[in-house]
Amino acid sequence: MSTSENSIATPNFIGMLIQAQEDALAAAATSDKPADMLRLELLGAKSELAKLTKQIRSVPKEDRPQVGTVVNQVKKAIVEAIERKNVSRVTSHVSQEDFDLTEPGVLPPQGHLHIVTQAITEITRIFERIGFTRVRHPEVDWDWYAFESLNMPPHHPARDEWETFFIDTPKSKRQIVLTPHTSNGQVREMEKGKLPIRMINIAKCYRRQVDVSHTPMFHQFEGMYIDRNVSIGHLKGFIDYFVKQYFGPERKFRLRPFHFQFTEPSFEVDISCGVCLGRGCRLCKEGWLELAGSGMIHPVVLQNGGVDPNKYSGFAIGWGVERTSMMKSGTKLDDIRLLYGNDVRFLEQF
Ligand code: DAH
Repeated sequence: MSTSENSIATPNFIGMLIQAQEDALAAAATSDKPADMLRLELLGAKSELAKLTKQIRSVPKEDRPQVGTVVNQVKKAIVEAIERKNVSRVTSHVSQEDFDLTEPGVLPPQGHLHIVTQAITEITRIFERIGFTRVRHPEVDWDWYAFESLNMPPHHPARDEWETFFIDTPKSKRQIVLTPHTSNGQVREMEKGKLPIRMINIAKCYRRQVDVSHTPMFHQFEGMYIDRNVSIGHLKGFIDYFVKQYFGPERKFRLRPFHFQFTEPSFEVDISCGVCLGRGCRLCKEGWLELAGSGMIHPVVLQNGGVDPNKYSGFAIGWGVERTSMMKSGTKLDDIRLLYGNDVRFLEQF
């Protein structure tokens, strides 16, 4: 656009702005329209001020910052005039007699933390009491940390269980993942080079699954303890402590032999059902509900993290936050997606 043809001298332009301000203030003072409409009329896309703002390119370039400041002042003056007007409209309706100072006010609606956030906070506090520290590790990570360093090289069939999202970049294919579990934090934590390790890693996880019992984003918490002479006894003590603290003293757990690539031996952890307390009912069938995966960290995984497996040993355990929290409250959601549907009528209940 050629500026020379349509150019406006700066003093003239400022004059036009001042005039627009005066007109707007006069309109605000005399009009009895509600504030919303006034705002639209005096500041909206079709207002005089908006038209002038668009023409700002017609003033010489070096004057534009100064003109911009005037535009802002004019806008502020108009906004204030509309607000003053609004306040006087509201208060003028209320006469001295029907203004009852003693009447209780209307309580504004009060929100609360999301159930999952509440669970994460509670879980963190429980583990902090026995010296475990919550740490954070990337939720978008190298395949190495999520799989390879955990004894699952590319094309290993065990990977199929983690319906993984891969992120390809122009330089790398299938090397970066949205972490499908919090176990990526194991080798990362070891790499910090400080022993012993008492970690609790809570993070978002992602898997390519959506149905009544899966959301593509969910949370896990991963406990890991590495020191000299760590044994299955420590793992059992750790689980027992958590189960009693979180679910209540009457709950029991059991370890069931299982297989994971990154632990040896490996276990699945079941907790006694909260409804029948282990006797067996419609919810649990046999008295037990599956809670977590766990085991003694595989020597190769320790080595991958730079920890000498001849000197140190450790356990690791991974839980799903949503599942654990639902088990505690006894809430049986027939659709887990409700948790992330953002419907306040649902969320308010917790
Ligand atoms: N990462 C596993 C999963 O997502 C759970 C798990 C199993 C975590 C065994 C562990 C473990 O730390 O030792 O299914």
